[in-house]
Amino acid sequence: MKILIIGMGYVGTTMGVALANTGHEVSGLDVDKAKIESLTKGILYFHEPALQEMLSKHLQTKRLSFTSDPKEAIKDNEVIFITVGTPSLNNGNADLTYIRQAAEMIGKYKNSKKIVVVKSTVPLGTTENVKQWIEEATKDSSPFDVVMNPEFLREGRALQDALNPDRVVLGSHSDEAFNTLEQIYSNLNCPFIRTTPVAAEMTKYASNAFLATKISFINEIARLCDQFGIHVQDVAKGMGLDDRIGGAFLQAGLGYGGSCFPKDVKELLWTADHRGCPLRILKEVERVNHDQPQYFIEKVMKEFPSLADKRIVLLGLSFKPHTDDIRESVSFSIIKKLLQEKANVIVHDPIVKLPNEWVNKGVKQINDPYEATEGADLIIICTDWPLYQEIDWAKISELVKGHYIFDGRNILEADCIKKLGFTYEGIGYD
Ligand code: UDX
Repeated sequence: MKILIIGMGYVGTTMGVALANTGHEVSGLDVDKAKIESLTKGILYFHEPALQEMLSKHLQTKRLSFTSDPKEAIKDNEVIFITVGTPSLNNGNADLTYIRQAAEMIGKYKNSKKIVVVKSTVPLGTTENVKQWIEEATKDSSPFDVVMNPEFLREGRALQDALNPDRVVLGSHSDEAFNTLEQIYSNLNCPFIRTTPVAAEMTKYASNAFLATKISFINEIARLCDQFGIHVQDVAKGMGLDDRIGGAFLQAGLGYGGSCFPKDVKELLWTADHRGCPLRILKEVERVNHDQPQYFIEKVMKEFPSLADKRIVLLGLSFKPHTDDIRESVSFSIIKKLLQEKANVIVHDPIVKLPNEWVNKGVKQINDPYEATEGADLIIICTDWPLYQEIDWAKISELVKGHYIFDGRNILEADCIKKLGFTYEGIGYD
């Protein structure tokens, strides 16, 4: 089938590659010419495992192409996915500017029957608005359907998730649209759910909100574990083996970041408040997450009442491993607090380049983990990159000045690290 995807960000690019891999003929459209130029050359402009190889492959099979010409692209394709961003506004509400622009663009150039699939995470009711925005912008009378089809892929395993989703949720009022989408995804071996557009929108928000809730829940339990000297991992393992609970997303640490959870939790809270139906549990989930870096810094400052002029090495800048995405990364909340305490901050990350804004504030990046830790008074782990489990901590124990490790992701084996002479503190784990 011929498919157009509007918005070549994380989700759109991954979807494009995954659909091309299934045998469809996919065009990717973006108003950002730099992105299109890069992708046309086969250069993935963000880090995502395995995606680069498959992007190159399907440029060669010619099942994948990119364009910045909306007119031709919209004319040529019957099925159009919208995967543009919906960032947070200052009030927590999602910014729908790009969604509306995409809808109006479809309306303006549509010349025949279309199925428009909203894949971006959009506030409740937006899919119906998309329909209206297309109608208002068009002079063409041929019919079109709108489907809400939320995307659940995770950064760092985006391609894997897109090729093997747990479920496909489709929200529409049209059987024909349902059938077309099921045909597009016919290679996927997972349950399909047919529902209304607004229920599909809610499914996405409720899923992310629930996962965020699991994280904040275990982080609160971890704080209590700290009080009793309990290893929270043991507790999480014991809980997770109960099928009704499940072991995923019970990794205590510095809390959630990234481009989805913080934004989607905010948006759902905003919507609920404005309907006079506040979500009390979710409010606390957000609050626990917000407080988690401060809780961690307080742990550090119990050992170091003053951090002034201390050489602190912070490991990990991305919001999670296997990505170069630093949006809402907790690492920067920690760096900010360390700078407020007048510490001397050195950072390391396997792939992220420290933004100039932070270089200008005096933070230094060193690309070799051993060189970075040399002379450190203390080490803080912010991202659970496997590298930090694999590096030679015995060697590092000889390079540092002070033997202190604060592990914000509980990734090191406390007993082994302590044997090397380090004082080790995790979260709900010491
Ligand atoms: C999330 C959802 O998982 C995905 O379904 C949705 O489509 C987009 O949002 P993503 O933001 O890529 O995906 O990352 P995810 O793996 O969910 O992690 C989010 C944050 O939670 C990270 O900061 C991670 O470090 C943190 N996290 C995750 C924990 O602190 N503990 C856990 O147990 C799991």
